[in-house]
Amino acid sequence: MTSTTADLLVHPQDAPDGPWWRSAVIYQVYPRSFADGDGDGIGDLPGITSRLEHLVELGVDAVWLSPFYLSPQADAGYDVADYRTVDPVFGTLDDADALLHRANDLGLRVIVDLVPNHTSDEHAWFTAALAAGPGSPQRELYMFRDGLGEHGELPPNDWKSVFGGGAWQRVTEPDGTPGQWYLHLFDVKQPDLNWHHPRVRAEFESILRFWLDRGVAGFRIDVAHGLVKADGLPPYGHEHEMLQGTDEQRPQAPYWDQDDVHEIYRSWNRVVSAYDGDRVLVAEAWVEPAERLARYVREDELHQSFNFPYLVTPWSAGELREVVTASLQATDAVGAPTTWVLSNHDLVRHASRFGYPAGTRLGNGIGADDPQPDAALGLQRARAASLLMLALPGSAYLYQGEELGLPEHTTLPDDVRQDPTWLRSGHVHRGRDGCRVPLPWQADAPSYGFGPGPLSWLPQPAVWRELALDVQREVPGSTYETYRAALRLRRSLELGTGSLTWLTGWGKDVVALANRNVTVLANVGTTDLELPADTVVLVSSGEPREVDGVVIVPADTTVWARLVRA
Ligand code: GLC
Ligand code: MG
Repeated sequence: MTSTTADLLVHPQDAPDGPWWRSAVIYQVYPRSFADGDGDGIGDLPGITSRLEHLVELGVDAVWLSPFYLSPQADAGYDVADYRTVDPVFGTLDDADALLHRANDLGLRVIVDLVPNHTSDEHAWFTAALAAGPGSPQRELYMFRDGLGEHGELPPNDWKSVFGGGAWQRVTEPDGTPGQWYLHLFDVKQPDLNWHHPRVRAEFESILRFWLDRGVAGFRIDVAHGLVKADGLPPYGHEHEMLQGTDEQRPQAPYWDQDDVHEIYRSWNRVVSAYDGDRVLVAEAWVEPAERLARYVREDELHQSFNFPYLVTPWSAGELREVVTASLQATDAVGAPTTWVLSNHDLVRHASRFGYPAGTRLGNGIGADDPQPDAALGLQRARAASLLMLALPGSAYLYQGEELGLPEHTTLPDDVRQDPTWLRSGHVHRGRDGCRVPLPWQADAPSYGFGPGPLSWLPQPAVWRELALDVQREVPGSTYETYRAALRLRRSLELGTGSLTWLTGWGKDVVALANRNVTVLANVGTTDLELPADTVVLVSSGEPREVDGVVIVPADTTVWARLVRA
C-alpha cells in the first residue's frame, strides 16, 4: 500500500491576509558588530543606517536590533542602565529616530530588544535600592533577601548564574556592614527585578510605549521565561542549562517558565494592540517541550517565540523531520506562526556547528586549543540547512553575517574576550565572543570595511577576506547570492504562508517536503540523490551535477525544485 501525500500534511496554508510577522524573515543586527560609522571600532546606529540598503537587497522584511541603550556594557548592552537613552557608544536618540525613518522609507520594519528580567546595577533604581538599605520600598523593586547562616553569610538559596558561579551577591549596607544579598541570574552587574511589584510592571509598559511611539514594529523579549520566580525561592538542587529538556531527573528550575509570567504578557499584548500596524512581541524563551513554549504565543499573549529546539537540532534527517512536525503542531494548536532560527549572538554560528561530527557536544564557545571544525563541511551544511529553513512556512530569523556564510571565530585570543561567561566560569567556557566579530563588507579595506579605519573591537579572522560582501555580491552560487535568490523566491511563491506536507519515497536520509507547489529536498545523507527527469531546480545550496541528463543532488545539499512526478 502506498500512502497518499494528503496523509502527511502537517500544516495547512495560512490565511493570506494575516499580519506581516506570521511569515516575515527578520534579520538580527548586533549593533556592536554590524557597521561602525565613527571609526572607534564599535558598531553604531549611524553605521547601521548607512548599511540598511544591504538588507533591502538581501530581501528581508524586518530588522531586530540587539540592545543599544545606555549601559556599562557588562553584558554587551543586555545590562541596561536607562531604557529610554541611547548609549553614547552607539549614538543618540536622534540617531535612533533617523534609523527608524530610513528603515521606514526603505520598507523595513524595526524590532528592538527589551530586557525586562534585570537592569544594570548602574540603573538609578538599583543605586537607590542600595543606598536606601534593607526593608526600604526601593529594595522591593529587586530580589533582595537576607542571607542564611548565623550572620547571613550564606546565599539565600543554591541558584546558579547562567554565566557561571552563584546567582546571589552580598552587598555592603550604607553603614558599611555586610548586608543583604540580591539575585542575579546572569552577571553580578545584572540584578533581577521583582516582577510581583506593580511599579516594575508599570515602568515596563511605559518603556514599551516610549519605543512604540517612536515607530518600532515590536520587541524581542529577552529571557521571557525568567521574569517570575517561584514563590518562596525554593532551592533547585540541580545544575541548569538554558534548554532544560524534559528530563525527569532534572525538573524545571524554579526561576524558569513559571505560570505567573503569562499574566505579564497578557498585559503587554493589551499595550501593543492599542497601536496600529500589527506590532509584534517575540519571546526569547528557552522552554521545552513545544507545548509549554506555545503557551507564550497564545492569542492574547506574545506573537512569536524563538524556536531553540530547532536551532539545536543536529544535521540528521529524522531529527529534523521530528522537530519541524512538533514545532508546527504545537504552534498550530494555539493559532500562532512557527518560527525558525539557526544562529544568533549567543550561540556558535551554524557554519561552524555543522563542521563538527554529528553528536559533538559543543560547549559554550570555542577556543584555539579546542578541536576545530571542518570549515568546508560546516559551510556546505550550513547553506543546506539555511535553504531548508527558508522553505518552511512561518517566520524565519537570520543572524547578521550568516548570509555571507561566516563561521565562528574559533581561534580568538583569550585575552581579547569580553563575554562575562569566560571570567565567571573560571575560564572553563569561552563564551560568545566568537559569534560577535564585526562583519566584513569589503575584502581590501581596513577592518574589512566594518568601519572607516582599521579598528574593530574584536579581531577579525583572516578568512573574512574571502567571505566579504563585495567578494560574493553578484557572484552566482555564492552564499550571499544563494540567500538572495531563496528570499526572492520565498516571497514571490508565498512560502511563508504556505503549507507543509512530508513527501514519502525519497529515502530516510532525505528531508523531502512540499510547500505550495515547490518540492524541497535536503540531502542529509552521504550518497548522491538523483532527481527524476524533467525536474526544474529553482535554487540549490550547492552545485547540482548533471550526469547523462540526470540531475544529481550531492550529500549535504538542499534544492528547491518543481517536479513532474506521479
Ligand atoms: C539573553 C540574551 C543574552 C544575554 C542574556 C542576559 O539570553 O540573548 O545575550 O546575555 O539574555 O540578558
Ligand atoms: Mg562606532
